[in-house]
Amino acid sequence: MGTVTEDKRVKRLIVAIDGPAGVGKSTAARLLASRLGYLYLDTGALYRATAWAVLESGLDPADTEAVADLLPTLSLQMLFHEGAAVVLVNGRDVSSELRIPRVSSAASVVSAIPEVRTWLLPIQRQIGQGGAVVAEGRDMGTKVFPSADVKFFLEADPTVRAQRRHRELVAAGHSGALEETSADLTSRDTRDRSRSIAPLVPAEDAQFIDTTNLSAADVVDQLMAVVTAKL
Ligand code: DC
Repeated sequence: MGTVTEDKRVKRLIVAIDGPAGVGKSTAARLLASRLGYLYLDTGALYRATAWAVLESGLDPADTEAVADLLPTLSLQMLFHEGAAVVLVNGRDVSSELRIPRVSSAASVVSAIPEVRTWLLPIQRQIGQGGAVVAEGRDMGTKVFPSADVKFFLEADPTVRAQRRHRELVAAGHSGALEETSADLTSRDTRDRSRSIAPLVPAEDAQFIDTTNLSAADVVDQLMAVVTAKL
C-alpha cells in the first residue's frame, strides 16, 4: 500500500538575502518567511549578540585576540517561537539590546574578525540545514549557504537607506540626528564591503533588487514571485 506520508510538492527551500544595512532586507526577509511559513534567520542578530557579549565583558571589539579568546566561553542560542526569534547569550535573552547604535557599531567591527565568522558558521548552518528558511545577512549566498535555492542581493540609494535606518531607530525609542545615522551607516558599509574575510559582495548567481523606490510590500511581492516559481 502506498501511503503518502509527505507532500513532495512542498519544497523546503533555502532563500538567501544579502545586502547592505538599511536596504530593507530584514523587513523583506521577515515578511517573505511569514508568507512562506518558513523560518526567518536573521544572521545579523548573531553578530550583534556576539558584539553584545564582547561589550558586556568590557572588551574592545577591535581587540582580535581578546575577542577570539572570549568565544569558547560563550553559548549562543537562537530560539524560534511562532515565527519570532529570541537570542540568548549564556542563557540571557539579549534580543531587545541588539539594535542600539553601540552594539551595531561593535557588530560591524567583530564581524571582520575571522575567528568570529568561523565560530558563527556552524551555528547559522545548523539553523538552516533543514531548509524552509529565509536567511538574511551579508554572506548568505556566497559563504554560509552557497548552494541556496534562491539568492537575492538588495541595494538602495545610500540617502534612502540612512533615512530608513533613522526612522527605525526613532521608532525604537532611540534619539540621535539623521546625520549621525548616515555617518554611522557609511562607516559600517565601508567596513563590511572592504574587509578581507567574507566582504559584502553579491553571489554570482544572485538576483539584484533595487529597493530605492519600492515599498516593503513591493519588495516582498518581487521576492515572492521568484520564489514561488521554484516551489
Ligand atoms: O544586518 P545587521 O545590520 O543586523 O548586521 C549587523 C552587522 O553584522 C553588520 O555590520 C554586518 C555584520 N554581518 C555580517 O558580517 N555577516 C552577516 N551574515 C550578517 C551581519
